[in-house]
Amino acid sequence: MKFFIDTANLEQIKEAQDMGILDGVTTNPSLMAKEGITGTNNILKHYVDICNIVEGDVSAEVISTDFEGMVREGEALAELHDQIVIKLPMIKDGIKACKYFSDKGIKTNVTLVFSPGQALLAAKAGATYVSPFIGRLDDISTDGLNLIAEIRHIYDNYAFDTQILAASVRHTMHVIDCAKLGADVMTGPLSSITGLLKHPLTDAGLAKFLADYNKGN
Ligand code: E4P
Repeated sequence: MKFFIDTANLEQIKEAQDMGILDGVTTNPSLMAKEGITGTNNILKHYVDICNIVEGDVSAEVISTDFEGMVREGEALAELHDQIVIKLPMIKDGIKACKYFSDKGIKTNVTLVFSPGQALLAAKAGATYVSPFIGRLDDISTDGLNLIAEIRHIYDNYAFDTQILAASVRHTMHVIDCAKLGADVMTGPLSSITGLLKHPLTDAGLAKFLADYNKGN
């Protein structure tokens, strides 16, 4: 299972990268705005800065909602760095743009996916990644993890290559449940990754080991 971090915060990306377990980064316009990154040049530079920290794929989202605009933006993003993945919204023109980029061998991530049918369309269009938003489904009393299971089932039926990127992951149990269900990738905040480290028995056990060592040394 690949671990992506869902942030545009360079310090948090560095921290996850330094742990040696980071496989990539996802961003979106809201995350960029949260870091105060505005203006086309600053946004493009920020994507390059992220690529220079992490070794894996970095999803950069287009703003356009029409096919021509998505192609224009996506091509400019793809030229920035070979780690860039073009993130496209799950709308008709997004699917068309996904097919366009797939045919050119450019990696894509179809985002804002909330149903198995949408995920099926993304796979048909050759998406590298499909991003079902599990946290946002949970927010409206709908089982986000069930969507991961449904997509896994459908993709396995037809051996689709599209990787299931469980998005809108909010906490450690989402990560563990997505791993059980066979999601290929998860993307979440740094806390959903570092939270996996924690267990009181680990802390107590380590304290005892060190105390015993210090008695005789
Ligand atoms: C996915 O790529 C999105 O950036 C993200 O996971 C959305 O998460 P949120 O629902 O916590 O905003």
